[in-house]
Amino acid sequence: AAPLRLGIAGLGTVGIGVVKIIQRHADLIAARAGRPVTITAVCARDRSKNRDADLSGYAWETDAVALAQRADIDVFVEVMGGSEGAARASTEAALAAGKDVVTANKALLAHHGQALAEMAEAAGLAIRFEAAVAGGIPVIKALTEGLAGNQMRRVMGVMNGTCNYILTRMETAGLPYDHVFEEARQLGYLEADPNLDVGGIDAGHKLSLLASIAFGTRVSFDDVQLEGIGQISIDDIRHAGDLGFRIKLLGVAQVSGRGLEQRMTPCLVPADSPLGQLQGGTNMVVLEGDAVGQIVLRGPGAGEGPTASAVMGDVIDLARGLRLPTFGRPATSLVEAVPAKVAAP
Ligand code: NDP
Ligand code: HSE
Repeated sequence: AAPLRLGIAGLGTVGIGVVKIIQRHADLIAARAGRPVTITAVCARDRSKNRDADLSGYAWETDAVALAQRADIDVFVEVMGGSEGAARASTEAALAAGKDVVTANKALLAHHGQALAEMAEAAGLAIRFEAAVAGGIPVIKALTEGLAGNQMRRVMGVMNGTCNYILTRMETAGLPYDHVFEEARQLGYLEADPNLDVGGIDAGHKLSLLASIAFGTRVSFDDVQLEGIGQISIDDIRHAGDLGFRIKLLGVAQVSGRGLEQRMTPCLVPADSPLGQLQGGTNMVVLEGDAVGQIVLRGPGAGEGPTASAVMGDVIDLARGLRLPTFGRPATSLVEAVPAKVAAP
């Protein structure tokens, strides 16, 4: 069978992880996908950087749009990041050029995912983004495939590992927020703009994507009620502990009489519950469906291997010819009749 040819835009943590999996598991991937998956061309800003992978067999582009438009690629893999600029322009260019897209970019999708998905679907293409929500945890596949027979009641979870690291470290080491924040910075956990993490924005992006898939609604990041962890003191954590609770930056999406509620806020969770027990940089997503009941998924929400693993799951689906619709559309929405905007309780 003809190979599925990739163009990979971004050769940082995730992009290099994808290259390594393709190089390490070429035979396994070909067997599972029914055809080889190959890399035609790659793209990053600085060609002279040492990348910890052998890239000599691939064509090089410095312009992501040019990569997206190459006639010799079938799938554009966007792992650069950013909600605007090159990520947005190249993703649009790829879809306009008839390429399927796989991306890990939750910021891009939370802001422009609906328009990109509509563009893809109108052209019979797919835009896949398993890696954008909870890194290595295959939560989008769980919702769109394994749980497709359920009406979802609620999705919730801890979706930003950095915040979970900060909160658990404050508790276990008894250190104040500012100290642990600085530690997280030194360990390289924080995004270039740390407010994306500690302001709850990154986790809010992920929740908006998950909610759209679970409830068949349009992606609406503006409707996520957001509150970060910057105001949480060591005393808050101690008092919560005295009452048998832990503080987690918890995302909750559920349908109520008021519409689709989406909240990403610090919450008290019972210390002995699965969410309360979640330590360090790990993610956890809890899915509740009417038929299945409750499912808890736990795993690495970031890092080279886990995130690339999720990207590859999407790539292999495309190699198999699986092009599922992306987000909810008004025609299939379960909560279309009620306003999506929810006032803070
Ligand atoms: P990095 O910062 O490690 O890598 C980004 C890569 O994109 C670099 O190779 C950079 O080039 C390249 N790049 C940036 N801007 C441009 C541009 N304008 N033109 C061409 N190349 C460009 O990011 P990550 O790998 O960590 O993240 C990539 C995406 O995956 C982001 O959307 C992120 O949110 C998402 N993600 C990341 C996770 C993680 O654990 N890291 C987890 C889940 C999602 P150069 O190297 O030359 O500077
Ligand atoms: N900054 C994110 C986190 C990276 O800490 O979870 C993965 O999306």
